Amino acid sequence: MSEDERVIVDFRGVDDAAVVRLNGKEAIVQTVDFFTPIVDDPYDFGQISAANAISDIYAMGASPLFALNIVAFPRDDLPMQTLSEILKGGSAKAKEAGISILGGHSVDDKEPKYGLVVTGRAEVDRLVKNSTACAGDALVLTKPLGTGIIATGIKRGVTEESVIAEATKVMTTLNSDASELMLKLGARAATDVTGFGLLGHLLEMCQASDVSAKIRFEKLPFISGVDELVAQEVVPGGTKRNLRYVSKYVRFDNRISDSQKIMTADAQTSGGLLIALPQDRALQFVETFNEISDIRAAIIGEITAPQKARINVA
Ligand code: CO
Ligand code: CO
Repeated sequence: MSEDERVIVDFRGVDDAAVVRLNGKEAIVQTVDFFTPIVDDPYDFGQISAANAISDIYAMGASPLFALNIVAFPRDDLPMQTLSEILKGGSAKAKEAGISILGGHSVDDKEPKYGLVVTGRAEVDRLVKNSTACAGDALVLTKPLGTGIIATGIKRGVTEESVIAEATKVMTTLNSDASELMLKLGARAATDVTGFGLLGHLLEMCQASDVSAKIRFEKLPFISGVDELVAQEVVPGGTKRNLRYVSKYVRFDNRISDSQKIMTADAQTSGGLLIALPQDRALQFVETFNEISDIRAAIIGEITAPQKARINVA
């Protein structure tokens, strides 16, 4: 840990955001995220990137306070209208999260990139870390998987419009409801599912909590059309890297096919929260969440005592 004794979470942990204590009760929570466009519509891209950045605040059980833009844009090659649409999307999403974007920084760059620095606050004893999952907890996932595979399909021009629309809805949805509900129900640990995929982020949680996890493939929610894309060998490089990396820690049951392994390791953008809760609370979470949200949450497995494999997928 940092030598500064006010630091509660820093980059050596594998949590979603940095946390610094302000006083006996309160902490400031900060995160930064930006990336290249993953959908063609600039307004949607702005919304997705903002929702993704703010998500790290929600994953810690914190609430966002304000944000700053990070922008890279090829001023001479693309119309400024495109940039203005990206920024409008980001600002609309920030507004939906109840915050404003107060400034930022932009540079000229060949490839557009957009994201946010987000500052939030939390009560120190209500912070939800990813290092505190307990054997016996159920695992809840609040968004379906497959956005990495779908985004690669968009780049190759093979993703159907209806699938793009569903993925865009998933990625632009804020994790605010999920965060509020997990605080209310006393979540034991949480993280959001992004670039390292479900297995990568679950592995971080298991290692940090010194537990193992059991995942049931048939319980995993996927955006429709993801399996067809994988069958056409639409697989992002990041997803392949994820699977290679987690393979030494994961035991896949013989019934799990190579395509299913890929789907489980898919690199996500603006994915859902992965939450460890006592079993009865998990049931309550899913029931309540699915009443208020049109994106459905599911119980996908459970935390167990440490075993030879950190994660078992069956
Ligand atoms: Co995160
Ligand atoms: Co992040």
